[in-house]
Amino acid sequence: MELLKAIMERRSIRKFTDRQVDRALLERLIKAAMWAPSGMNRQPWKFIVLEGESLQRFIKFSAGMAENMEGPLRVQNFNDKMRAFVKGYFRDLGGARTVLVCLAKAADTYLADHANMVSGAAALYNFLLLAHEAGLACCWMTGYALVESDLMRFLGVEGYKLVGVTPVGFADQIPPVPPRKHEDIIWME
Ligand SMILES: Cc1cc2nc3c(=O)[nH]c(=O)nc-3n(C[C@H](O)[C@H](O)[C@H](O)COP(=O)(O)O)c2cc1C
Repeated sequence: MELLKAIMERRSIRKFTDRQVDRALLERLIKAAMWAPSGMNRQPWKFIVLEGESLQRFIKFSAGMAENMEGPLRVQNFNDKMRAFVKGYFRDLGGARTVLVCLAKAADTYLADHANMVSGAAALYNFLLLAHEAGLACCWMTGYALVESDLMRFLGVEGYKLVGVTPVGFADQIPPVPPRKHEDIIWME
């Protein structure tokens, strides 16, 4: 697929069929995503794939978190509709049979910490585009940042920060195309 087409046509999908994604394909896409550039070539990402029993446990965890999110979401100034939307998606992640978590190694200095996080984001976006090209659908979610320490405890991981959680599967919806603002280009001559 032409890269421009993949960039323009990839969408955040929030409803999935119950078809399982092939593990070999997933592994190939994650390894390709890891060709992202990274600060000092630290390759600071960690990808965790949740399937089967671990996915069921994650969904239970996520649904439990949804019940505790009312306060944190109000602090973020989310209105009633947005709070219901976020909590609803936390309860079932759209029915996907696979969830991918992307983490970035925490660092002691601001420079390294920042570079690690944006490097992780580059790898995750690589994955989103590759998944789209392969006919798969995803939805990058950072809502879990509101419960980041619970998430790390659930995953049994220390010393990492959340880049994003994404369900991975086959789309069961054709969402509208959210419009883009194009005014934020500043040419300094
Ligand atoms: C860093 C980041 C965080 C996001 N967090 C969430 C989230 O927590 N929940 C959600 O449903 N969508 C989330 N999204 C998806 C955005 O809502 C979506 O990308 C945006 O509306 C544009 O739609 P598109 O991806 O279909 O082009 C996130 C996207 C990004 C890049």
